[in-house]
Amino acid sequence: MNQTIYPDRARVDARDKVRGVTRFAADMPMQRVAHAMTVPSRIVRGRLAAVDIDAARAVDGVLAVLTWRDFKGVKSAGYLMGGGFGFQSHQPMLSDRLVHRGEPIALVVAETLEIAIEAAALVEASYEEEQFAALLGDTRAEVLAPQPGHDMGDAQAVLASATFRVDAEYLSPAQFQNPMEMIATVAEWRDGTLTIHEGTQNSGALKFGMAAALGLDPARVRVESAYLGGGFGQKNSLQGQTVLAARAAMLLGRPVKLVMPRAQLFHTASFRPASRHRIRLGADADGRIVAASYDADMQNSRPDTFRASFSEITARLYAIPNYTSTARLVRTDVQSPGYMRAPFEHPAAFAFESAVDELAYAAGRDPLAFRLANDAETDPVTGHPFSSRFLAECLRDGAERFGWSRRDPAPGSMRAADGTLIGWGVAAGAYKAAMAPAIARLRVRADGTTRISLSGHEMGQGIRTAIFAAVTDGLAIDPARVEIVIGDPDAAPQHVTAGSWGTASSVPVVRRAVQAMQARFEEFRDGRPIRGTIHEMLARWRRPYIEVESRLQAPGQPDTVFDRLQRGLPAAAGPEYEPFVSFSYIAHFVEVRVEPTTRHVRVPRIVSVVDCGRIVSPRTAESQVRGGVVWGIGAALRETAEIDPRFGGVLNNDFAEYVVPVNADIGAIEVGFIDRPDPLLNEAGVKGLGEVAMVGVAAAIGNAIFHATGRRLRELPIRVEHLF
Ligand code: MOS
Repeated sequence: MNQTIYPDRARVDARDKVRGVTRFAADMPMQRVAHAMTVPSRIVRGRLAAVDIDAARAVDGVLAVLTWRDFKGVKSAGYLMGGGFGFQSHQPMLSDRLVHRGEPIALVVAETLEIAIEAAALVEASYEEEQFAALLGDTRAEVLAPQPGHDMGDAQAVLASATFRVDAEYLSPAQFQNPMEMIATVAEWRDGTLTIHEGTQNSGALKFGMAAALGLDPARVRVESAYLGGGFGQKNSLQGQTVLAARAAMLLGRPVKLVMPRAQLFHTASFRPASRHRIRLGADADGRIVAASYDADMQNSRPDTFRASFSEITARLYAIPNYTSTARLVRTDVQSPGYMRAPFEHPAAFAFESAVDELAYAAGRDPLAFRLANDAETDPVTGHPFSSRFLAECLRDGAERFGWSRRDPAPGSMRAADGTLIGWGVAAGAYKAAMAPAIARLRVRADGTTRISLSGHEMGQGIRTAIFAAVTDGLAIDPARVEIVIGDPDAAPQHVTAGSWGTASSVPVVRRAVQAMQARFEEFRDGRPIRGTIHEMLARWRRPYIEVESRLQAPGQPDTVFDRLQRGLPAAAGPEYEPFVSFSYIAHFVEVRVEPTTRHVRVPRIVSVVDCGRIVSPRTAESQVRGGVVWGIGAALRETAEIDPRFGGVLNNDFAEYVVPVNADIGAIEVGFIDRPDPLLNEAGVKGLGEVAMVGVAAAIGNAIFHATGRRLRELPIRVEHLF
């Protein structure tokens, strides 16, 4: 087990970030770069009858105006997580078929961005329009047959005879990731090689996907993605604009830069789909949850399928012996939804943890004590043990830090001197502890430098800092001259960085590489005395470098997963491993203050305590939790995509109207870690953190609002007008 206690340290890229030195894809300096702009479709669904590009082409400085006819022969690689995880097919501009508002119908390439924007506005099109459904509840939406879910015991019968019952429906809106770095591609075509600069969580899939789409040998496609300005799942799959920029670069013989404007991203990039959750819970007279049923509906696109898995965590949060779940996909005419931080777990925890709170009140129990009394010791779904589970410790530690024992349980009972209503709420969260296979190459050189290459993408979460902690732990190298090469499929095979498996996949394989390096060095040293670093010894013994390679897969995975890794296909495992089940856990304690006249809700403080195994990078781990909690506050009280059912577009498609929390909305966020290494998942004892951080925040806020006001609000975001 990992005995290392990792010290707090600054991010390895902190200095570069604050000085603006870090280069993102669209920042790459490049000779003769041409600028592209997309022309969005003005209808939702139908056929593109004609496109008039003459006026656009006549603008001085326009190099080309491409329409679908210029993309003949291009194939959709299938883009969800690089085409390997479920199936998504729709690539804009491959035909005259239009399936959602705003999809590109033409691409203008010009000498400057300003010219490209001006010319794009001059492209005219005519359409053959068809009827469409914009909303989850639209009568023209197509509801698919339910996906099979969990089925343990006899939930319906036990629910019918339970002493205390809750039956309620919860709604979660469509949301957009809105990473600060907008989705952008710079494509270069030189000497028969295509180079793609793109902020992606999935550079391996991008390499092989572009090769498949454009009919190129993968050896002729290079991808660079050293840094992303935020990903949140929106960049974990292939993007519709990449092939457009690549094709334009190939046709023009010049580098082409395409930065998608934020307003267009609301209509082209993936998002968190709207969902509806009906939860039924039953408890016995002793306050034990005896049965649950969970039926969900989730918005989807018309051509594709993005599968739901809301119940994966809710079936495990408590020891509920009778549990059943279904999920139905609802086809609407939007771009295909995809993964957004805690894609299912955030809305599922809002619904389920609100319902559990309702049940605690119905049974006359304290919401914290009720949760502790229903904790699960083994996995209710498989019957297998958990690799580690400190949810109860998270709840107890959080309660202690928060001062939960001073809570008066009666709703509306706690008030400030000025009459402000005070509410205290709690909720739990979980997220699968997943792992992906990885190969790491470590080279220590006599010249004082060290280079480690492996799979990973730095979206700002701090993976470089975690890798640095692992590579410098116990290795006599110069820490100031360590080069970490990630996001480059030609340096090491790249797996998608998502699903909170980044640290759990990279740190253990780096520890292995360090051990291999130590062993190789000892062998080479052959009993000679050591004076100084490995670099110094290599220099003295006139050897330019030592290189080792290590590999690691998830528990129980066959060696064939490395073939998938080498081809850029998803190969992660979890939460079920033979013979254990692995999750990270969190408990959130929230104070809200509701102004009695305006009903304005403030969140002055939150305590969040996490069990994510061993903490490798304390600084970035704490930041991850703060970021997740801030997002949870936004999801609870601010964020929603306002869809116009008549036009099928997002009305609030910018940061002025798509409201996210600002500094003034955020109070104190206290973060605690259990920091106990998981003994089974990997040698580093690391589980995952990125997504669990926001799971349950919205429920804890809703529960606190109930405690403050006596109003149970079941639709996100919770708005002032709901509180009257
Ligand atoms: Mo993340 S939403 O799994 O890229």
